[in-house]
Order: sequence, then structure tokens, then C-alpha cells
Amino acid sequence: MSKVVVFDHPLIQHKLSIMRDKNTGCKEFRELLEEISMLMVYEVTRDLPVEKVDVETPICRTKTNMLAGKPIGIIPILRAGLGMVDGIMNLIPNAKVGHIGLYRDPETLNPVEYYCKLPEDAEHRELIVLDPMLATGGSASAAITFIKQRGCSNIRLVNLIAAPEGIERVRAEHPDVDIYVAALDEKLNEHGYIVPGLGDAGDRLFGTK
Ligand code: PRP
Ligand code: URA
Repeated sequence: MSKVVVFDHPLIQHKLSIMRDKNTGCKEFRELLEEISMLMVYEVTRDLPVEKVDVETPICRTKTNMLAGKPIGIIPILRAGLGMVDGIMNLIPNAKVGHIGLYRDPETLNPVEYYCKLPEDAEHRELIVLDPMLATGGSASAAITFIKQRGCSNIRLVNLIAAPEGIERVRAEHPDVDIYVAALDEKLNEHGYIVPGLGDAGDRLFGTK
């Protein structure tokens, strides 16, 4: 069964509380999402393999660790996942970025795909799927299915806030995918919004409502 990591770092929790506040405006919301994503990636990549390389310091020659293994790909789910990209790229500047466009039908809550463009060599990469909100889990699970259909298998999912329902669904449908979240909230409401959550992440990020 996959791993679920919930971040309890005070800095992350503090920043997330400001994001949840309905009076926090677009600009601050965007900045905070980028900052939290950057803090999260540190733990998300903890198990990446390293290899010993020779380095000559001003003092002597030594062997020291550098990243080895598969290169990284990051895949934001449009739209709101875009808000997490820059924070991660700050730490992994060589990552390639793929995009999956999905929206959640407001009536059925089912995800509808409208765009998919992955790096050409995505199947040879360690992939990090990004979406601030994991509500029913329909969007994330569908995105991961699309990615797998294109031959990829090393996938981890990073969300800001998850509902138990979303975690359960992704774990049931993709037991090979580890999930990293800054907060695990209480439940979904009757409209499929996370409670207490932060409202509609895409709208708050881009100021569309
Ligand atoms: C939001 C969010 C997730 C999805 C989560 O996107 O960013 O992609 O809902 O809900 P689910 O877990 O129930 O599928 P939305 O569909 O509102 O699209 P947007 O990012 O374009 O606003
Ligand atoms: N999508 C959001 O943006 N927020 C939620 O609470 C649920 C789905």
C-alpha cells in the first residue's frame, strides 16, 4: 500500500492557515502556495538516489553525494496545479514540466480531460503530480491513469489539502503512488468542497471569482 505523508512543519502550517483565510487576496495566496510547494519538495524528494562523485574542494579531493537515477518530471493538473510549479522548479531547475488539463464537472463531480502534454521521455522520469486540492480524488486519480496509459510508472502525488475521501480513492485506484499533503482535512461538503479547506483553489489563485 502507498505511503501518505502529512506535513506537520510549523512553517507550512502557518502559511497554510493564511491561505485558508477568506480575506487573503490573490497575490498573497499565490506567493504562499509557491513557498509551501518549495518547502514540501524537500521531503517529497527525500528518497531520491544519490551517487558518490569526485569533487576537489579548495582543501582536498573528496567523494561526495550528487543526485543519481531517473531525472524528474513535474506534472501540474490545470489550472490550480500551476501554482505549485515555480516553488518546485526553484529547487529542481532541470525538471521537465508536463501539463494535464482537467476540470471537475460541477454536476457530476467527474473529471473531464481537455489537455495533456507530457515530456517526450516521461516514462524514464520520476514524476511528481501537483494539485493543491484532493477532494473526491477523481481528478488526481484520472490524471494518474492518463499518465500511466502513456507508459509511466514512477509517480508521486503532492497536494496542499486533502479530504479523507480523496486519499482513499487514490490509494485504492493507485496503490503504487505515494501521497504527500500539507493537511488532511475533515470531510467533503455536499458540493464536493473540502471542509474546512480553502474554497476554490483555482479561483483564488487566478482571481476568477
Ligand atoms: C479543483 C482542484 C482539483 C479538483 C479536485 O480543480 O484543483 O483539480 O478540483 O477535486 P476532485 O478531487 O474532487 O477531483 P477544478 O476542477 O475546480 O479546476 P480548476 O483547477 O481549473 O479550477
Ligand atoms: N476543488 C477546490 O478547488 N476546492 C475544493 O475544496 C474542492 C475541489
